[in-house]
Amino acid sequence: MKITVKTGDVTRLEVPALVVNLFQGVTEPGGAIGAIDRALDGAISQLISDGEIKGKEGEICLIHTLGKINPARVLVVGLGTVEKFDAQVVRRISGDAVRYLRQRGITSAATIAHGAGVGGLDPAASGQAIAEGTTLGLYRFSAYLSDRDGRAPDFTELTIVEQDAQRVESIQEGVELGQVMADAAILARDMVNEPANIMTPTKMAGVAAQVADAEGLEFTVIETAQMREMGMGALLGVAQGSEEPPKLIILTYTGDPDNPDNNLGLVGKGITFDTGGISIKSAGGMEAMKGDMAGGASVIAAMQIIGRLKPKINVTGIVAAAENMPSGTAQRPGDVVRAMNGKTIEVINTDAEGRLVLADALCYARQQGIRRLVDVATLTGAMVTTLGKVCTGVMGNNQELIEATIGAGTETGERFWQLPMFDDYKDLIRSDVADMKNSGGRQAGSISAAFLLAEFVDDAAWVHLDIAGTSTSERAKGHLVKGATGVPARTLAQLAITLAAR
Ligand code: BES
Ligand code: MN
Ligand code: ZN
Repeated sequence: MKITVKTGDVTRLEVPALVVNLFQGVTEPGGAIGAIDRALDGAISQLISDGEIKGKEGEICLIHTLGKINPARVLVVGLGTVEKFDAQVVRRISGDAVRYLRQRGITSAATIAHGAGVGGLDPAASGQAIAEGTTLGLYRFSAYLSDRDGRAPDFTELTIVEQDAQRVESIQEGVELGQVMADAAILARDMVNEPANIMTPTKMAGVAAQVADAEGLEFTVIETAQMREMGMGALLGVAQGSEEPPKLIILTYTGDPDNPDNNLGLVGKGITFDTGGISIKSAGGMEAMKGDMAGGASVIAAMQIIGRLKPKINVTGIVAAAENMPSGTAQRPGDVVRAMNGKTIEVINTDAEGRLVLADALCYARQQGIRRLVDVATLTGAMVTTLGKVCTGVMGNNQELIEATIGAGTETGERFWQLPMFDDYKDLIRSDVADMKNSGGRQAGSISAAFLLAEFVDDAAWVHLDIAGTSTSERAKGHLVKGATGVPARTLAQLAITLAAR
């Protein structure tokens, strides 16, 4: 979709639809919507006084203008209350509005910069949120649909119209930033939505290589033989049941070459399919486990943003990619594996494979001298039980980095919530035969998983993000659509930007 920003009079635009907004509780529309209301002889104020438009967030009212003004239709979208308003509201309503138009066969529209007036939003933030909300809200994964004729045609063009010429440039800058962010989230979504017979560890490495090529990043893959030499027994144990060779994928961005210690490592779980292994999962819903590489996808996508925006910090993206299969060569419950740092793990449950592959990826990051680490993983079903699909669970050993990550999420509109890491939880993964066991049983499943990871970060500042719930959405809502969300690619990149600015 093409987004342009220009100055002009909203009543004179020759467009099939014009998107305007209304805050909840406003009875006399002002600004752009006020001008349109007057040109429509008070049609909008009439709808408000009749109670058909309330301005509730996400509410949409379509008015045909019948030649009274140039836009053929006016779409009034509710922004909710002024108190709850922020850029995230703009992101959501932008997605809802363009999907509404597309469903009705409308393929282009104009909009005002939502919230940049009464809402008090910075014009650049509004432009960014509109670009992200529309681009992400229009996303469809249709690679394998033979018949695309029956569906609504693509929405191709959005014009943001601003009265004040001085604001056009900042809105434009916001739009460009939003497009970089949305492009990457879409890359992550595509990787996650792709079936596991296509998105293999080898294919993930291929996508990472393309990103590296396009953005000028360094690209390395550690293959099976080298994993053996390096002692990555935990990662190899997971991969040994599959015909697909595992890959440890590494993307390096050097934005601060004079300060090698100014670094950040992003480590993603890249299980391209999780059957559970010998501790096999039940059949119902198992297809969703093609998305068990969402953490890795978000890391690759974040590296794309970082490569484009070039913050002054060194960032290494690491993806532990493997397939978890049951077979004659698969690891068994009771097996003991040794990770790269020498620590041993009793594999109680082969379905707790994410923490195993991450253990070696985190060791590798430490060996590379990375001092701040953020890992991202669809790690535990317990996370979905705890926080649902609303926010990502955050754990870690460094409150400052935890808060920086949560803060980056406030900027991007991706939500995070911290879970406790009281030492007592560590008892859950105590093993009689090895240094730890890979399953802590039914209690505090997400936290016991984090405690296993903590054994492999040494003294680095570390944050763990469990995206088991947030990596996919059950339905279209705002900037999200059914399927992969691309979370938390935008936040990981934002974190790198925030840390670079400190
Ligand atoms: N990939 C799953 C976690 C998951 C579940 C992600 C549902 C998204 C949706 C992970 O590998 C897993 O199987 N975890 C087990 C751990 C248990 C065996 C200790 C789980 O959560 O049941
Ligand atoms: Mn599993
Ligand atoms: Zn898994």
